[in-house]
Amino acid sequence: TSSSFDIRRVGGRIGAEVLGVDLSQRLEPGLVEEINGALLAHKALFFRGQDLQDADQIRFASLFGELTTAHPTVPSVEGQPNILPVDGEEGVRANRWHTDVTFVRTPPKASTLRSIVVPPYGGNTLIANSAAAYADLPEPLREFADRMRAVHTNDHDYAEPKNQAAAERRKVFTSRRWRTEHPVVRVHPESGERGLFIGGFAQRIDGLSGEESRDLLRILQAYVTRPENTVRWSWAPGDLVLFDNRITQHYAPDDYGDLPRRLHRVTVAGDVPVGVDG
Ligand code: SIN
Repeated sequence: TSSSFDIRRVGGRIGAEVLGVDLSQRLEPGLVEEINGALLAHKALFFRGQDLQDADQIRFASLFGELTTAHPTVPSVEGQPNILPVDGEEGVRANRWHTDVTFVRTPPKASTLRSIVVPPYGGNTLIANSAAAYADLPEPLREFADRMRAVHTNDHDYAEPKNQAAAERRKVFTSRRWRTEHPVVRVHPESGERGLFIGGFAQRIDGLSGEESRDLLRILQAYVTRPENTVRWSWAPGDLVLFDNRITQHYAPDDYGDLPRRLHRVTVAGDVPVGVDG
């Protein structure tokens, strides 16, 4: 079938670059449908060389569903309720594997990240395919995971903040405590694929002790973060990344010291995660 754009895969199991689409223009419904199909297939899409303003990013993200306010606890960019600033100087360094905002009942469906200030080196974003992780599990572990539920919370075991900005950020992030249970294996509502739905906010497995939970989550998480299941994006000015938050995790290595790094995130609202038993 012919498509309106070219796709160039970036990783073997996740990630593709979309070429020939100008996101500053209004996109026809058919094209949006195709981009959504590419998102389901590749889970993370990269658009380069865009010349976008906040309003363009908001319009593009809205094509995939209703937007959330920037974050349940973290304030948005002033006057832009849908834009979450991701700024290293403000202590926002997401160097922990996670799926965005899984501690609420309806975690986001997808997120867009747009480069605002890019460091000359470092400051990449890694994205992992949690369906590939599930498929990699040995059968007994898969059956076990199918039956488990995990408690997700934003009040988890953080490392000591490195500086004042990080300490402030932590205070804001945890200013209201959330705690929600989700199935450990999530059935993707559009593709039907099964994926491990855990990540940094998953703290405890229902029915297990804290120690057992940590051990088991570490084993499952190791399948998500295997290098084979990840793609690593090196940001350039003009980049926009769209990822499916229902079936991925991501990590931003904190390897850029005091260099400036800023992204804007716009997040699409999601539904209640459904496990293998419906
Ligand atoms: C995030 O977790 O939304 C931010 C990712 C990044 O800083 O690359």
